[in-house]
Amino acid sequence: MATSNKHDSDKAASSTTLRVGAVDLAIHRGSPSEYVPGEQIYIAPTQGYLEKLAYAIANNLPALLIGETGVGKTQAVRHLAWKTRNGLRRVNLNGATTVDEFLGKMLINEQGTYWVNGVLVNAMLAGDWILLDEINACLPEIAFCLHSLLDDDRMVVLMEYDGRIVRPHPDFRLFASMNPSEEGRYSGTKMLNEALLDRFPVVIRMDYLTEDEEVQAVMQQSGNSDEAMVRRMVRAANDVRAAIRHEKVFGSFSTRRVIDWARMALRFPEKESARYAVISKLTDFDAQTVTDIVDNYF
Ligand SMILES: Nc1ncnc2c1ncn2[C@@H]1O[C@H](COP(=O)(O)OP(=O)(O)OP(=O)(O)O)[C@@H](O)[C@H]1O
Ligand SMILES: [Mg+2]
Repeated sequence: MATSNKHDSDKAASSTTLRVGAVDLAIHRGSPSEYVPGEQIYIAPTQGYLEKLAYAIANNLPALLIGETGVGKTQAVRHLAWKTRNGLRRVNLNGATTVDEFLGKMLINEQGTYWVNGVLVNAMLAGDWILLDEINACLPEIAFCLHSLLDDDRMVVLMEYDGRIVRPHPDFRLFASMNPSEEGRYSGTKMLNEALLDRFPVVIRMDYLTEDEEVQAVMQQSGNSDEAMVRRMVRAANDVRAAIRHEKVFGSFSTRRVIDWARMALRFPEKESARYAVISKLTDFDAQTVTDIVDNYF
């Protein structure tokens, strides 16, 4: 599907490193993990954070990505995982993820009890990458085990099992993401506690793509090739984002929503599509302001 990346992918397959800005990333050799992400459309952002992310990966430093929903946090990690042929596992640490699912748990059958590893331990042993979404919402027990993994000792202890120590495979990398919490617009989110924040040597604040980049991303992913139309959609989205910054709107307007809107506009008029792909996701209060903004463009 991502024809624009075909050439790059051929190049990546034939070389041993991937150059990102001034950083060289090793391309994984040998049999690939089943968790290597699929090929995807990716517009390299001009903001330069991809290079900083690559720096973190090259130096085995855990990286934290902070940005509004849909700015491309997951996409950035996924893109580098795909390009370097590394497996990527994802776990959402919102309050529903238990330490059992994260580290592992004892189960019982006719033969007796046995241990199953959780997603973190599996990724550590396999040498896959792991992306922890909504890290600011993680349970204290999970924060506690992340401390020892992110500290210099770089290990986790399976206390619930036999006290064994698990150390990461050299290819294991850890990323975390969160929405900015200062504004308090994301219900249930909170500031990441300082102790955990301190353990991320690289913290990347991401913003939306520039207008031109977002137009390209939306056209390629929605299949809508009417550039003038897509540009007006992106401008409307940017006006809404400005209104959010000025606290006139409280929801969000991600690139995902622009893609949904542009895709739907292939079949229906733009304003009607906006109602179904964007405005119906907003509160009554926000809906009025966003409708007015859309009306300015269509
Ligand atoms: N650089 C980019 N190139 C192409 N598409 C992009 C890019 N950045 C974002 N997108 C598009 O925006 C969508 C949202 O990006 P992504 O899932 O990475 O956001 P996120 O920051 O992880 O959001 P959340 O906080 O909700 O997890 C992607 O599915 C993709 O379609
Ligand atoms: Mg994400």
